[in-house]
Amino acid sequence: MQPAEGRTPIAARLHDVVTARLTLRRLTTDDLRELAVIFAQREVWEFPYGRGMTAVEAEAFLDRQHALWCAHGFGGCAARERDGGRLVGVIGLSVPTVGTEPRSPVSVGWRLAPSAWGRGYATEGAAALVDEAFTTLRYDRICCITQPENVRSVRLAERLGMTFAEAVDVRTDDDASHLTAVIYESRIDDPRRTSA
Ligand SMILES: CC(C)(COP(=O)(O)OP(=O)(O)OC[C@H]1O[C@@H](n2cnc3c(N)ncnc32)[C@H](O)[C@@H]1OP(=O)(O)O)[C@@H](O)C(=O)NCCC(=O)NCCS
Repeated sequence: MQPAEGRTPIAARLHDVVTARLTLRRLTTDDLRELAVIFAQREVWEFPYGRGMTAVEAEAFLDRQHALWCAHGFGGCAARERDGGRLVGVIGLSVPTVGTEPRSPVSVGWRLAPSAWGRGYATEGAAALVDEAFTTLRYDRICCITQPENVRSVRLAERLGMTFAEAVDVRTDDDASHLTAVIYESRIDDPRRTSA
C-alpha cells in the first residue's frame, strides 16, 4: 500500500467494523446492484447533483472506492443492517481534496437510502469510522465536507461533535459552476467528540 504523497501513512488498514445495528465492510462489486438502486434515488444525490445517479455513474463511484482502498487502505464501506443484511447505503473514509492546507488527512462521508433515514444509522456508522480513524489508522484529525443547504448532513456532523472549520468555493464536476462546501472537523483530543 502506498501512502498518499506528503501524508502520514496509516498505522493499519481499515478493517470490518460492527456497530450495534450495522456492519461496515469494504464496498465490492457484489454490492453494485443494490447500491445502484439506492443511488438512483434523487434524494441520495440531491447534494450536489440535484438528481439520482445512473447505473454507469454508480459503477464509476464503486471504481473510485476501489482505487481509494488500494491507494490508502480505507474507502467507502457498504453499511448493512446486522438484522437481515439489507444494504442501507455507504458510510466511509476518504481523502479530502478541498480545503485550506494543511488539510485533515482523512474525511468521513455518508449516503443512505431515504428509507433508512431518521434511525440514527448514519451517526452510529460514522462515529465508529471516526473512532477507527483515530485508533486503527492513528490520525489525529478528521473532517467531513458537505454543503450548507444539506441540513441533515450538517446536523449529523454536529451530532458527531464536529465543529465548523471553513467554507470553500468548489467547482462542480462539469466545471460549469461553483458551489459552496462547508468543512467540519474533529480532533482526537476534542472533548465534544461523540464516540461510537
Ligand atoms: C445525511 C444523511 C446520512 C443523514 O441521515 P439522518 O437519518 O438524518 O441521520 P442519522 O442516521 O444519524 O439519524 C438521525 C435521526 O434519526 C433519529 N433517530 C431515530 N432513532 C434513533 C436512534 N436509535 N439513534 C439515534 N438517532 C435516532 C434522530 O432523532 C435524528 O432525527 P432528526 O434529524 O429528525 O432529529 C441522509 O440524509 C442522507 O443519506 N442524505 C443523502 C446523502 C447526502 O447528502 N450525503 C451527504 C453528502 S456530503
